[in-house]
Amino acid sequence: MSKIARDITAQKQEEQRKNDFIGMVSHELKTPLTSLTAIIQMAQRKLLQHEEPFLSEAMEKANFQARRMAAMINGFLNLSRLEAGKLLIEKQTFDLDRLLRDILEETRLTVTSHVFSLEECDHITVHADRDKISSVISNLISNAVKYSSKSRLIDIRCKLQNKVVIVSVKDEGMGIQSEDLAHIFDRYYRVETSRTRHISGFGIGLYLSAEIIKRHGGEIWAESELDKGTIFYFSLPIK
Ligand SMILES: Nc1ncnc2c1ncn2[C@@H]1O[C@H](COP(=O)(O)OP(=O)(O)O)[C@@H](O)[C@H]1O
Ligand SMILES: [Mg+2]
Repeated sequence: MSKIARDITAQKQEEQRKNDFIGMVSHELKTPLTSLTAIIQMAQRKLLQHEEPFLSEAMEKANFQARRMAAMINGFLNLSRLEAGKLLIEKQTFDLDRLLRDILEETRLTVTSHVFSLEECDHITVHADRDKISSVISNLISNAVKYSSKSRLIDIRCKLQNKVVIVSVKDEGMGIQSEDLAHIFDRYYRVETSRTRHISGFGIGLYLSAEIIKRHGGEIWAESELDKGTIFYFSLPIK
């Protein structure tokens, strides 16, 4: 075997070991986090019978942070599954507008820094992986929150066009310049500017989202204007 071929094999094995490790760790982190979430929710229910504003708010914040952590861990888990060729798409039939409304209702409860609007969309039934599509939408919304200033509007829409439904998430944030726009769906890609440096992330959200949408036979793309804002779109075939 030539040296180059050997190096490539070694590199691949190293990647795979890293990937297996991420998968294992994420999986192990899920168990304690699930019980932590259950405990918080139990405490929240108990607190309903008492006038304890401080504790109620503390539990709400704890719940929010636990959810954030769960979303991150799920992201890592899905990344490692994807890299191993084991990301399964489990389709079911569901109402997309119902899902959007549910996600938005939750988001409004937990994210108070921004203004959200969701346009009425008709009953749109899709045959897709509900959890994964839900993670795509949450990802786009959390990016819109992360990359735009406080009190700004985040506008979510869905519309039917021929045989597909198009969901869009629009923000009034910092925008993305075209050189970066071409790469934001790449694995680990993050825009490096003085404004984004203090915003934390791993650059896997859009990579995963794109993969999930592609596996559904849909498309994902973005339009953006620097300092004006960004609109992310994805399409899904409808039933
Ligand atoms: N709504 C947005 N507005 C401006 N930039 C964005 C937006 N969404 C994503 N980006 C850019 O694309 C990069 C990749 O996004 P993502 O994969 O979600 O990773 P992360 O949010 O962890 O950095 C981000 O680091 C950011 O630079
Ligand atoms: Mg993100």
